Amino acid sequence: MKNDFETLNAKSTYQEMYRPQLHFTPEEMWMNDPNGLVYFQGEYHLFYQYHPFSKRWGPMHWGHAVSKDLLHWEHLPIALFPDEIGMIFSGSCVVDENNTSGLFEDEGGLVAVFTHADDNVQQQSIAYSLDAGRTWQKYDQNPVIENPGIEDFRDPKVMWYEPEEKWLMVLAAGQEVLFYESKNLLVWTYLSAFGKGHGAHEGVWECPDLLEMPVKNSDETKWILQVDVDEGASAGGSGGQYFIGNFDGKQFISDHKDVRWADYGKDFYAAQSFSNIDRNRRTVWLAWMSNWLYANEVPTSPWRSAMSLPREVSLQKTDKNDYVICQIPVKEYEALKTGEKISTSFALMNSETRKEEQPDGPFEWLLQMNVKQCESFEAALFEFNGKAVRLIYDQSEYKLRFDRSQCGVHSFSEDFPGVFDIPVKKTADVLTLKIVVDTSSIELFINDGDAAAANLFFPSPDIEHFSLSVTCKKGDLLQVDSSEIQPLKSVWRDS
Ligand code: FRU
Repeated sequence: MKNDFETLNAKSTYQEMYRPQLHFTPEEMWMNDPNGLVYFQGEYHLFYQYHPFSKRWGPMHWGHAVSKDLLHWEHLPIALFPDEIGMIFSGSCVVDENNTSGLFEDEGGLVAVFTHADDNVQQQSIAYSLDAGRTWQKYDQNPVIENPGIEDFRDPKVMWYEPEEKWLMVLAAGQEVLFYESKNLLVWTYLSAFGKGHGAHEGVWECPDLLEMPVKNSDETKWILQVDVDEGASAGGSGGQYFIGNFDGKQFISDHKDVRWADYGKDFYAAQSFSNIDRNRRTVWLAWMSNWLYANEVPTSPWRSAMSLPREVSLQKTDKNDYVICQIPVKEYEALKTGEKISTSFALMNSETRKEEQPDGPFEWLLQMNVKQCESFEAALFEFNGKAVRLIYDQSEYKLRFDRSQCGVHSFSEDFPGVFDIPVKKTADVLTLKIVVDTSSIELFINDGDAAAANLFFPSPDIEHFSLSVTCKKGDLLQVDSSEIQPLKSVWRDS
């Protein structure tokens, strides 16, 4: 008998398989990191690491799409092609509004800053567009930062630093990040390094991002450095961590040494924030929703890899005088709600279960629960014949366990199935879970977004309808104040 994976492989390579309906995917072929995220003249630009000739990683190009609402994307031709200096690795875009670079005639425009990578050397280069990102010219004196003898030296993220009217660049170098400054995007001067003795170091650091963010309900701002590590992340393999601290124009000083994960799922990497949106009042980032452990093997077709939902990121002060980033889907996402929701509230005694039909298309499941008298509950998704994806809450450990080990297609990689822990705030008697299910992913946001987890999941192709359920596993009473199942509108092919 064929297993699920063989059944899928037997289908034609070009048959649509597991296409998300809400999350961004390229029309075909391989994608990894988001690059060059920028808002310019009414459009959000999403560039991405792209291999146009294969569903596996290869010579990197920058694919391109634009959107007016961060959800409906128009696919555009490839923006940047490999050349004699190398492949086009990850990087960022800025709006050079005042034409500091002198690359524009009178008004400024978009400048892309990226890594040129050949087999041996990684260096930083730039390109610019005179037509709102439709076509690109590479700067004729690339690279703008030559390799100083560091093997892994890549992924520049650039931002404008208003107090000193200069550009700042942060890039990944081995297991640290380096900061550079420039007045014109062309000539760069090294400032400082950060990373030794801080955070997770099981793998190389990649794709950093530096953000100044207001602290919610205060006049204070803090600096956030997000940086990915390609091994040893919270759920295993590649993942993103962040540091909270201060930046004085030259150096980043972290408030802490411990690791803080940006997302507790296994599929959230290389998060990048949009540049030029609302100047510090709004932070939106999205990430590559996969993991280097198995990204090249996931059973999707005719493309590989999706982006996470775009997330609104905010910074909150905790009652311990610390800070935590919160992430929720961007407000534009609300427009995807169909209004056809099924709302219920109920109470479950020990060992009781409440089951519902799971919608066939994409949907949001919003659960608000009082867990004061419940030591452990379970929310199950994609349930069939006693098997399911399980979210198991453990009051004693203040943890939610995400378990995708028991069902679905996972034989493509032994690293795919697993159980991943998500921390839950200790003070919470009332717990809110916002679960966004989209064909082959489950994105979870806890409470105000103080923990998030993005995980891929490939439901078995032979099962047509699934159910959902909530069970009070241990304790006297689970009070479900509200359970809302809301089908969501598809944006795929609707753009
Ligand atoms: C991260 C990464 C980057 C690099 C790119 C190459 O996923 O390894 O460091 O620029 O992918 O595609």
